[in-house]
Amino acid sequence: MSLLKRIKRSVTGSSQTSEKKLAVIRSKNKETLTAFDPQNPPPEISARDVEILKECWKIVQQNVAEVGIITFVGLFETHPEVHDAFMSFRAINTSDLEYNAILRKHALRVMGTVDKCIYRLDNRDKLRELMTELGIRHKNYSVKIEFIELMGPQFISSIKPHLETLWTDEYEGAWENLFKLMCYYMKKGMCSI
Ligand code: HEM
Repeated sequence: MSLLKRIKRSVTGSSQTSEKKLAVIRSKNKETLTAFDPQNPPPEISARDVEILKECWKIVQQNVAEVGIITFVGLFETHPEVHDAFMSFRAINTSDLEYNAILRKHALRVMGTVDKCIYRLDNRDKLRELMTELGIRHKNYSVKIEFIELMGPQFISSIKPHLETLWTDEYEGAWENLFKLMCYYMKKGMCSI
């Protein structure tokens, strides 16, 4: 069994059901990949979206490590090229143990960024600054711009099971809008250097 499958099984108890969901997400991503134009205005997030995001985040925060890892393993399984790019940043002979630790660390960092953005929704200038600078650093890590927007759909599919009783299309839209905004500024930063 591959290391990714083992990590996923250790977090979820099974790898079968989420594999099916991930296949759907991959085809969605293929349809929605679009060229980035830094001249476009930032995507909008309504006051209702902000309310929904804060309500959801209180619940998701209780399982932050699990959601982060599932997001990343899902992203790597559906898009092996992202996995290769991520690991090429590291020494070639990274052991399983080190690899697992790197994956967890990045997953937690992404979750930490989502946390910061949710609290910066009340101060959009700070959100812009945070994500633009993160984008510049990702350009320096040689991450391709088109990889950035792959994170949102995986993240949304990882939080859904924790919010089953609340989830509606409106909730999904609020999370999509948050990731659109985060990715917009990250990509803007990547294009700026
Ligand atoms: C919404 C998307 C993403 C967020 C919020 C995010 C967040 C972060 C954060 C907070 C760090 C810590 C270092 C720093 O602040 O500069 C980091 C590092 C890094 N990220 Fe991301 N990231 C995202 C997407 C990606 C993707 C798609 C890749 C694909 C290859 C990637 C590859 C890396 C690499 C190689 C590092 C280098 C440092 C390390 O391994 O610690 N990131 N990311």
